Amino acid sequence: ESSTELDISSLEEGQSIKAVFRKQPVFVRHLTPDEIKQANDVDIDSLRDPQTLQERTEDGHHNILVVMGVCTHLGCVPLGAAEGENKGEFGGYFCPCHGSHYDTAARIRKGPAPKNLQVPTYEFTTDTTIVIG
Ligand code: FES
Repeated sequence: ESSTELDISSLEEGQSIKAVFRKQPVFVRHLTPDEIKQANDVDIDSLRDPQTLQERTEDGHHNILVVMGVCTHLGCVPLGAAEGENKGEFGGYFCPCHGSHYDTAARIRKGPAPKNLQVPTYEFTTDTTIVIG
């Protein structure tokens, strides 16, 4: 199936956008320095699904987080990618279906979801263009 190309040149720090890849939502967030710090300050061994922000982002673009907008519990679309939406207790994404809270690296921190939001296969083809898939 076809890939999804996204121009993120107008995505400002602190903003997220929703896109679609293979008929599923994708969230792209331009992390603020504070959100990056929050993600890096976490004790990785304390995480349910231990991964660093570094591992979940591309080299040279660790401030751009790309994840599937599909809760790893039962597949609802989490909130937090649109302005004013509930980002949950850890400042990332919040799934209202059964209360899963994801942090600023979209890692599961509280609630029933077993895994972090999935990072799809993608690459930067320019500094401001992402191709997913
Ligand atoms: Fe997200 Fe259950 S589907 S918490």
